[in-house]
Amino acid sequence: MSANTEATPGIHIDPYERLWMIVSIVMLVVFAGAVTVAGFFMGIQLPSPESQVDPAVVTAPGGQFSDDNVGLYEIAPGEYEAYVRGQVWAWVPAEITVPAGSRVTFYITSRDVVHGYKIIDTNVNIMVLPGQISKISMTLDEPGEYQVICNEYCGTGHAIMAGKIIVTEP
Ligand code: CUA
Repeated sequence: MSANTEATPGIHIDPYERLWMIVSIVMLVVFAGAVTVAGFFMGIQLPSPESQVDPAVVTAPGGQFSDDNVGLYEIAPGEYEAYVRGQVWAWVPAEITVPAGSRVTFYITSRDVVHGYKIIDTNVNIMVLPGQISKISMTLDEPGEYQVICNEYCGTGHAIMAGKIIVTEP
């Protein structure tokens, strides 16, 4: 029996169209599930802008991101805050050392142009903008040396803009 002779009225849906509708709905459910698992069970998060600042003020002597104030602070046992400044073409401080199992919240800003703070083999990958403090938290469980690169093109020295996170045995 063909569709136009069916006794029950209704919208005719071609079998292939029906199949693709089902596939689309299943994909939406799978994607929503993946986002939920990533966000709530794997700790994957979007980096957030923490606050707006005057880049000239925060990086000048005495400022929150001056040479004297950047670095690692232990705020509670096993909990750290790292203040990092990006500039052409270095991360200051370039090296941060923490014991394994530490929870580190990074606060990062730029003195000049847009940079990108990426710690290889971790979820930390954050855009660093002049005028904004970017914030991201990470628990560093595995001892080892993690390279830090800049992943936003920032000029001729972009490729040498590197750093290192050293996670020591607890
Ligand atoms: Cu800094 Cu590329």
